[in-house]
Amino acid sequence: MTKATHATDPSATTDATPGPPEPSADAAAIPARGTVDPFAAGAEVMRAHAEAQYAGELAALAAADDRPRPPSWRLSPWAVATYLLGGRLPDGTEITPKYIGQRRLVEVAVATLATDRALLLLGVPGTAKTWVSEHLAAAVSGDSTLLVQGTSGTPEEAIRYGWNYARLLAEGPSRAAVVPSPVMRAMERGAVARIEELTRIPSDVQDALITILSEKTLPIPELDDEVQARQGFNVIATANDRDRGVNELSSALKRRFNMVVLPLPADPEEEVGIVSRRVAELGAALGLPLELDALAEIRRVVTVFRELRSGVTADGRTKLKSPTSTLSTAEAISVVTSGAALATHFGDGVLRAADVAAGLSGAVVKDPVQDGLVWAEYLETVVKERPGWDDLYRSCRDLA
Ligand SMILES: Nc1ncnc2c1ncn2[C@@H]1O[C@H](COP(=O)(O)OP(=O)(O)O)[C@@H](O)[C@H]1O
Ligand SMILES: [Mg+2]
Repeated sequence: MTKATHATDPSATTDATPGPPEPSADAAAIPARGTVDPFAAGAEVMRAHAEAQYAGELAALAAADDRPRPPSWRLSPWAVATYLLGGRLPDGTEITPKYIGQRRLVEVAVATLATDRALLLLGVPGTAKTWVSEHLAAAVSGDSTLLVQGTSGTPEEAIRYGWNYARLLAEGPSRAAVVPSPVMRAMERGAVARIEELTRIPSDVQDALITILSEKTLPIPELDDEVQARQGFNVIATANDRDRGVNELSSALKRRFNMVVLPLPADPEEEVGIVSRRVAELGAALGLPLELDALAEIRRVVTVFRELRSGVTADGRTKLKSPTSTLSTAEAISVVTSGAALATHFGDGVLRAADVAAGLSGAVVKDPVQDGLVWAEYLETVVKERPGWDDLYRSCRDLA
């Protein structure tokens, strides 16, 4: 056994004699190929979970929070809403806003989680459904990782449980051979489970949720056993409005959810605010400088997105064709972030038209023929004619 492991161990040297593994001090001195990259050592994870990234804010909220907490909740509903919407605590701690939008929507979402009904966040792509769900789970349960990613191939095991077949064969069915799903673990712990893109999951698999949500139990018939949810268990699911109909939620399941629709940002300034804030946060994580002067280009990107999305220019005078692409706030964020990388590494630190042009046309033109025409027409009739936009026009034309 030791021999076999040793032979395939990539840290083993070719002339190693069979026997117990080398002391770990030696292994550390010469990192094996493919295991430790000395340049990456010490680098942080690319994206920390919300509960890690905002641990300081969550701790300050817990300390300041003297309101009643539902069973198993880390914070009171008031503090969870403050974590999402931002605010200042009595001790002066600044809580950054995570979600920018109507306070009431967040309050309804948080209040739902304190009931026995589950929460379904609906909206077009890029309206922060996933983002809000992660932060809610982090604030309520201190753990946003109990996550099921819904796809057309999501099996029932992802919602109920699977089996460790080696154990099952060796020992027969037992609780030790059960591989719990994130939902099962959330039930055991009294925590929030997240289900992404619920409507993409085949409907017979979705139905596995009905008993869980209505009876708060997950039967394990093979063992004549069950897992009963502890207090604090709940589910946050997300679904895109546009997908509706792919796997229409059954009415039995729909009745188990309170739905909260996250809208697109109401006005341009709100959207510019969201994009600026997120670009600054993402830029900091990517090592891009914070002082990048980007506001002017962010305004233009948001204007282009909003005009094409709504099919009319901002002044309401010219009707436009809309492309097939989503043009969500999230995509505006990534257009500006890519532009910021160009400006930082190859420009003078100011975000300019040439830095956003490629991202912009890439975001608009998803279907090369249909969207290409829409984009060309928009460039000629709107961008070209708009005072002060000739640099953007030229940069976009240069790419065509
Ligand atoms: N109203 C908003 N407030 C804060 N961030 C937002 C808002 N709308 C979009 N975003 C940002 O958009 C990005 C993508 O959102 P995401 O949750 O993936 O969208 P969805 O799941 O709805 O498709 C996130 O980085 C989020 O910060
Ligand atoms: Mg999402």
